[in-house]
Amino acid sequence: MTKLYGAGEAQVAALRGVSVELAQGEFTAIMGPSGSGKSTLMHCLAGLDAVTAGDVFVGDLQVNGMSDKELTRMRRSQIGFIFQQFNLLPTLTAEENILLPLSIAGRKPSKDWFDRVIDTVGLAGRLAHRPTELSGGQQQRVACARALVSQPEVIFADEPTGNLDSTSGTEVLKFLQYSVRTLGQTIVMVTHDPNAASYSDRVVFLADGQIVDELREPTADTVLDMMRKIDVQARVA
Ligand SMILES: Nc1ncnc2c1ncn2[C@@H]1O[C@H](COP(=O)(O)OP(=O)(O)OP(=O)(O)O)[C@@H](O)[C@H]1O
Ligand SMILES: [Mg+2]
Repeated sequence: MTKLYGAGEAQVAALRGVSVELAQGEFTAIMGPSGSGKSTLMHCLAGLDAVTAGDVFVGDLQVNGMSDKELTRMRRSQIGFIFQQFNLLPTLTAEENILLPLSIAGRKPSKDWFDRVIDTVGLAGRLAHRPTELSGGQQQRVACARALVSQPEVIFADEPTGNLDSTSGTEVLKFLQYSVRTLGQTIVMVTHDPNAASYSDRVVFLADGQIVDELREPTADTVLDMMRKIDVQARVA
């Protein structure tokens, strides 16, 4: 994938020949310095932004070249999103927020699956509450449940713990890890935090629009070492 923004003197190459396969049923973290292209990569993979060159597939679906209508349909049925700012609707209850994407798509979850997701996120007693009546961690768990309930092919999370204290952040990360291990969900998470990345199965490191390294079964320490190494390489280059 290549992604160029702007033209002429002001042109920025946000992705410069990125080739990556993100396995089904795996929890992948994407790391790299600010401006290295993490959000751009996520947006191109999720069909929120178009690549300038290259091909993007979600399962068997070719994302590049889709019409706006096809992209909307694909995002609704195949993809779940979790953002740093929760993005819950304040006038809806937790349950209504969780079911909103499905109801927009005119679908209903199976009762069993809904109950399992609610049970997994630990929100059973909170379904009638509005976002303002929930803690940050609970709000983000509502957002996780909303992403999971449609059983998407892949969930993309951009800094999902960026606005949370470490206790709530850990709850959300454990939940994401659990949903991969027991529900077989596929998750791709952008993060700056070595501790957050340590909950993933694989960390892909970006620098200046290119993949420069990766780690499997990361720990916070091995991630931190890799971040230092990439930082040193960037200064030498
Ligand atoms: N819409 C845009 N128009 C022009 N340039 C853009 C646009 N979006 C991103 N860029 C540029 O592309 C590069 C990669 O940006 P991106 O947002 O993907 O970085 P990031 O790794 O997510 O950074 P951060 O950690 O700060 O969120 C940066 O140089 C950025 O300025
Ligand atoms: Mg970003």
